[in-house]
Amino acid sequence: MTSQRTILVTGGNRGLGLETARQLAAAGHFVYLGCRNPDKAAAAAASISASHVVPLQIDLDHPETFEPAARLIHERHGRLDVLVNNAGVMLEEDIMADSTSTVPASVLYRSFHTNFFGTVGLTNRLLPLLLRSDAPRIVIVSSNVGSLQMRSQGEPLMKTFAYNSSKTALNSYTVHLANAYAHTPLKVNAAHPGWVKTDMGTSYAPMEIPEGAETILWLATLPEDGPNGGFFHKKTPVAW
Ligand SMILES: NC(=O)c1ccc[n+]([C@@H]2O[C@H](COP(=O)([O-])OP(=O)(O)OC[C@H]3O[C@@H](n4cnc5c(N)ncnc54)[C@H](OP(=O)(O)O)[C@@H]3O)[C@@H](O)[C@H]2O)c1
Repeated sequence: MTSQRTILVTGGNRGLGLETARQLAAAGHFVYLGCRNPDKAAAAAASISASHVVPLQIDLDHPETFEPAARLIHERHGRLDVLVNNAGVMLEEDIMADSTSTVPASVLYRSFHTNFFGTVGLTNRLLPLLLRSDAPRIVIVSSNVGSLQMRSQGEPLMKTFAYNSSKTALNSYTVHLANAYAHTPLKVNAAHPGWVKTDMGTSYAPMEIPEGAETILWLATLPEDGPNGGFFHKKTPVAW
């Protein structure tokens, strides 16, 4: 495995994405900071202040941004070693309420549009570049609220139906993709970061951002004998 990996982190301008990018850059990797807003991207890249961190416009709601991003990575590096699918939205306003029967169709649609269709579309566009790597890795930043097993066992999880279901769909994609490329060196895993103090996680969350980034960083830098097709929190499997 090459020591300096070429890595794309989506949603890289704040929260878990920015921290993940910061730590990967500090470890010497080349990091593309995928952000939907070019100004926020430039500011985030400047905050890391490393020549091997480059902002890249990627908006999961606008698939037309995927092609130029893929072309630029291809021209500059010829391959992508790691894709961290971190960007995501939680659109339900009251995260404590059960929205199962009340969520507006528009919220359900937009949640899936960004979190699921956007992530799948971007990943599928970048797969040819990932398959040019000698040790490609894909991290899908999911959440344990997408776990059907935990929910059906009555675990006290948030009941934000649109967000949770979009993560369940991403879990399904994780398993499908891992199986589809099991004959290659590609490893695809889903991460549950924990409940983390970010804009999405709110200040009520118990975990600080660096701790939340741990699972993502571990899966992004898995060695050859690491897992494939799993769902993890802090190196421990999470129930699907
Ligand atoms: N925090 C938690 O407790 C927690 C728990 C479990 C899972 N997660 C997951 O962790 C990931 C990161 O969340 P976070 O807590 O760091 O949240 P955050 O601070 O709200 O950051 C979300 C990031 O996603 C980006 N984003 C949103 N919509 C986008 C789009 N259409 N295209 C591209 N980027 C977009 C945002 O960019 P803008 O600044 O442009 O909006 C931002 O960079 C998410 O997938 C989330 O579901 C978080």
